[in-house]
Amino acid sequence: MPRRKGSDLPAPSSEPAHDIGGVLERSLYVVAESGQDLTPIFFRRFFALHPDQEHLFPKSSEACGEMVNEILENLLALASDESWVQLSIDNQVSAHRCYGNFSLPLYRDVLDVFVRTLEDLAGERWSAEFDAAWRQMTDKFYALIAKAH
Ligand code: HEM
Repeated sequence: MPRRKGSDLPAPSSEPAHDIGGVLERSLYVVAESGQDLTPIFFRRFFALHPDQEHLFPKSSEACGEMVNEILENLLALASDESWVQLSIDNQVSAHRCYGNFSLPLYRDVLDVFVRTLEDLAGERWSAEFDAAWRQMTDKFYALIAKAH
């Protein structure tokens, strides 16, 4: 069988640049292969950055896992332009007023820590493409939070 020439191979850029959902999904497979739970790592990172917030999260609370899941779900939904995301964010920002007076930069940090946690779990398999796709979604998410805040 003749060897394929470089020019016969699909170009690395052949994947449509707008397939953000596909990129996010691939990154999540890599993250899942670490076999580790996102939630404790996310909160460890977040409390290292904001130790003053730790008392708001009782150790045994299931809400911690819910928060991480909700962030993930909203970001994935944004990637597929789901129309319910703004309403979900409005509700979350409003519900969070019961927990405390959280500034916008705190929301920004939560989203940043979320992406860094994925990066931690993916290890050296994290890529610039994954990073750009998640950052694009967290920027979009943050803009909607700012609108609701
Ligand atoms: C980035 C967007 C965020 C989303 C989507 C989100 C989502 C959630 C969800 C789903 C819960 C579970 C209870 C509920 O449904 O209300 C929760 C709890 C909570 N969130 Fe968030 N959250 C976000 C940002 C933040 C920020 C910036 C803070 C500030 C530190 C925060 C502090 C809390 C606290 C204190 C709880 C209660 C924890 C407990 O009862 O143990 N959240 N969050």
